[in-house]
Amino acid sequence: MQIVILNGSPRWKGNTRIALNQIISGISKNIPSTGFEFIDVAHLHLMGCTNCEACKTNGGVCIHEDDSADLMEKIAAGDLIIFGTPVYWWGISAQLKLAIDKFYSRTELFQTQHKRVGLVVIGASSVQDFEYQLICEQFECICEYLGWVIIFEESISAFAEGEVSENAKVMERLGELWTML
Ligand SMILES: Cc1cc2nc3c(=O)[nH]c(=O)nc-3n(C[C@H](O)[C@H](O)[C@H](O)COP(=O)(O)O)c2cc1C
Repeated sequence: MQIVILNGSPRWKGNTRIALNQIISGISKNIPSTGFEFIDVAHLHLMGCTNCEACKTNGGVCIHEDDSADLMEKIAAGDLIIFGTPVYWWGISAQLKLAIDKFYSRTELFQTQHKRVGLVVIGASSVQDFEYQLICEQFECICEYLGWVIIFEESISAFAEGEVSENAKVMERLGELWTML
């Protein structure tokens, strides 16, 4: 099984990165044959989709000279895609959104691929607040459109850089997500 992890946080020691690494650690200990591709989408060179439709007539290649073609190849190769995002203004990070918008270039391929999806959302607010629900619903719509199946959605509250690692209960839960695979 190949897992592609998209980290939407720009922080090098951020909560999203720590949470995603904890999930990877649980999977690699318990399912050692798994392959991982960890992608820091916030540190890629990605230009915004301009809806030029060139990708619809050229075999699914974004004409921008950025990292999207390589990113789409990696996503196409994944059986499970794990999205991680900080909450920015009640939504996903702009950096992750840029990457997801580029899915437009491969929509038809992705709709044939029946991938599984995991989602990790981390914001400063309590997990009872509305932003987590908004983001989960956005991913539920995206996955329904693509025919992908969500196998876990984790909402986590943490504010300062690295703070999530002090929450033993959350870290334990993340380390056990391999059981959902
Ligand atoms: C631009 C910006 C907007 C934010 N908006 C929200 C928000 O709407 N709701 C919230 O709960 N936290 C918000 N936060 C806080 C972050 O989600 C929080 O600090 C999170 O832990 C960052 O994750 P990271 O360390 O993985 O980058 C915002 C932070 C930034 C920088």
